Amino acid sequence: MCGIMGYVGPQDAGPILVDGLRRLEYRGYDSAGIAVTNGSIHVRKAQGKIVNLEALLKREPLSGSVGIGHTRWATHGAPSDANAHPHTDPTGEFVVVHNGIIENYQSLKDQLAAAGAVFTSETDTEVLAHIIAREYDGDLVEAVRSTVAVCEGAYAMVVMSKKEPGKIVAVRKISPLVVGLGDGETYLASDIPAVLHRTRDFMIIEDDEMVIVTSEGATVKTIEGTEIDREVLHIDWDSARAEKGGYDHFMLKEIYEQPSVVTETLAGRLDEDGTVWLEDVAFDDDYVRSLDRVWITACGTAFHAGLIGQEIFRRVLRLPSNVEYAHELRYADPIIGPNELTIAISQSGETADTLAAARQAGESGSRMLAITNVVGSTLSRYADDVLYTRAGPEISVASTKAYMAMLIAQYLLALRLGSARGTVDKELATRIAHGLHRMPAAIEKTLAAEPDTIRAAEEIKDADDVYFIGRGLDYAIAMEGSLKLKEISYLHSEAMPAGELKHGTLALITDGVPVIVILTQRSVYDKTISAVQEVKARGGKIIAVAYDTDEEIAKHADTVLRIPDMPDLLAPVAAVVPLQLLAYHVARMRGHDIDQPRNLAKSVTVE
Ligand code: G6P
Repeated sequence: MCGIMGYVGPQDAGPILVDGLRRLEYRGYDSAGIAVTNGSIHVRKAQGKIVNLEALLKREPLSGSVGIGHTRWATHGAPSDANAHPHTDPTGEFVVVHNGIIENYQSLKDQLAAAGAVFTSETDTEVLAHIIAREYDGDLVEAVRSTVAVCEGAYAMVVMSKKEPGKIVAVRKISPLVVGLGDGETYLASDIPAVLHRTRDFMIIEDDEMVIVTSEGATVKTIEGTEIDREVLHIDWDSARAEKGGYDHFMLKEIYEQPSVVTETLAGRLDEDGTVWLEDVAFDDDYVRSLDRVWITACGTAFHAGLIGQEIFRRVLRLPSNVEYAHELRYADPIIGPNELTIAISQSGETADTLAAARQAGESGSRMLAITNVVGSTLSRYADDVLYTRAGPEISVASTKAYMAMLIAQYLLALRLGSARGTVDKELATRIAHGLHRMPAAIEKTLAAEPDTIRAAEEIKDADDVYFIGRGLDYAIAMEGSLKLKEISYLHSEAMPAGELKHGTLALITDGVPVIVILTQRSVYDKTISAVQEVKARGGKIIAVAYDTDEEIAKHADTVLRIPDMPDLLAPVAAVVPLQLLAYHVARMRGHDIDQPRNLAKSVTVE
């Protein structure tokens, strides 16, 4: 996830681009840059936050009335000046910024290198600039079109050339892109808030579309070239709402970003037959076969993601796996050996406890794999291997989309380990791959049922205590659902395995006490229904999360939150969504500060 800007008009482009990037900084902030045309193309870019770019522009000013800009969230190559966008071709005549991932960039890069191309960065973006320059034959739009034809992936790219001044060409393939229409000037941006203070009239560019921007306006076409009559959308959000992309809170915005987070985290890593490519994971098959155990360590929501990983590794890989809280593991004097892989999961890659546990595992001789969202974070630098989630910056303290990306990362890892160990055959791998590729659509469908979660939130918003139950993977989801609720609604909630309820907590179930049950695991369905009946017999109120094909549950539950039917192994990805929405709506109804709940911090860098 990165932020993109473009400007064509009578004003000096630089300050407009930088101002837009500042408003897009939430999308990424490890480096930023701009390019303007003024007879020739001039580029300024700097590692770090946008203030660094501003300082550079003070020292080395530039001017020109056409320009593009970018704020980066690294995916290929560490955050650095060289890897910052924009990127040019070797002649400096074509310049590109891009958001998302070119999945086949390595093979494109190899082909270009074989033909003599020399690269100055590790990015996939620079490859685009080279290809566009090679394809150019007097028509920038055609050159971009031919480039898109050879690129696979989910991305948005914005291109400018000194050969065709006064024009920007952009393409959207999944990653967002909007055009802002001014009076004799036109803007491009990753999203509306970047330029909402300059215009209220927008065109939303859809997937597989191209837009040609001049000071006179914008022409929208399909990638193949058919012109599209795109209506102009007039936006009347206030500025606070605009910053959140039209949502009332970052948390809700981030919940809704989850389908694209899944797409991005899978991009370029998973073939249809379940073959997995993990760019920063270096171990070989012999190492994987030698493994006796997997340790997973993390805190908070990342720990709950680890609970899912533990269950998947045990079930799919038949490999002993233990998830441990990092703050426990670091003092537990665990017996971790060289034939054991430790996986540390951390959105920020900076959580002190997780870093300490990871170090301790490393010192015990275990190989250390990090699953983290932040390229260049302390954890990523310490780890032997890194699997980056590609959730983009998460602003809300209560984690949603980062958790989602952690789940996807662990499915990928399970496929990678399972194929090497021979525990995942081609048929199972293909089934899991198929299911994962369908997951963005399944999450979309689950999000569409948000009104049901609002009704369920009404039912529990005044409760004193809420209980969450489930078995196996459903228990892991129950843990995360409960944490989400308590973090932002300040309601007491507790999660437990469904079978444990009768061993004590049942004493607390009286008339109207809400119990949320997750029921996606068919092998233990009847067992969980028994726990539901125990609750019903004491007057408890049942809210169930179940497949849309499950007719039985309607006989037992007061309210059912539906998710699309899918393989049980993948169900956590969808089942967590109604619980996130439920927590969000309860907190909203109770009038809390959702994005910054009391007493909590996004990243806990002290012990
Ligand atoms: C804090 C946050 C949680 C997060 C935990 C671990 O407690 O409030 O939302 O899950 O840290 O953070 P990490 O960055 O390591 O995933």
